Amino acid sequence: MRLVVLGKQGSGKGTQCVLLSRYFAVPHISTGDMLRAAVKASTPVGIKVRETLEGGGLISDDIVTDVVASRLSEDDVRSQGFILDGFPRTVAQAEMLEEMLRPMELDRAIELDVPTEQTVRRLAARRVCSDCGAIYSTHKPPKFNWTCDVCGGEVVQRKDDKEEFIRRRLGLYEKETLPVAQWYEARSYLLRVNGAGTPEAVLKRIQKALFRR
Ligand code: AP5
Ligand code: MG
Repeated sequence: MRLVVLGKQGSGKGTQCVLLSRYFAVPHISTGDMLRAAVKASTPVGIKVRETLEGGGLISDDIVTDVVASRLSEDDVRSQGFILDGFPRTVAQAEMLEEMLRPMELDRAIELDVPTEQTVRRLAARRVCSDCGAIYSTHKPPKFNWTCDVCGGEVVQRKDDKEEFIRRRLGLYEKETLPVAQWYEARSYLLRVNGAGTPEAVLKRIQKALFRR
């Protein structure tokens, strides 16, 4: 299984990728999570990208593609496939991914479709584990005192989830990432799925769309 999951910020990519990764027993590769981990560990990449990442800008295609290429070369991905979350986000990245995968190719690109005002509300309410990246919200907090149910880490608001950065990120989505969905659509890879409703309802729609092919 080789899937790409696309969608606006807050459309539920991370939430659905966790569920899909469990369902298909395939690694979930989130470029946002990998970049945030690099920042936290102050690696050379982390030091380079910190300011842009926290301000909601896009990291350069070269840096992100290197990070993804190195993860795609690992054994678990080579044997089981992948679910890519947050990559590709520009047409240049989509072209680089196509090159990286050769002679294999993608199975599908899924685009989660959610109205912008709904994604803004979701992002303002989102909280994440600062250690493992598990996703919560003020409506669905962890069980105990903002401590992660999965790893015990501290659950916080992402720096780029502040109101002023949310609009910037959504603007970049329209400009840079919508053309990626169109690029996949032109190549008949794209499945557009309604991302509104509960996470379980959205998962069912994705499964149905994938098995319909
Ligand atoms: P990344 O971490 O990928 O962030 P993003 O694209 O901004 O997307 P989000 O994580 O905000 O949204 P999501 O769709 O995953 O929503 P979620 O499931 O959490 O990237 C961060 C940054 O890294 C970028 O800005 C950039 O700087 C850099 N970067 C990463 N990849 C890059 C690339 N390829 N090129 C360049 N730069 C790159 O859900 C949101 C909230 O809604 C949660 O609280 C969740 O609980 C809730 N929710 C989810 N589903 C539902 C539902 N069905 N109903 C109700 N609530 C729901
Ligand atoms: Mg995410």
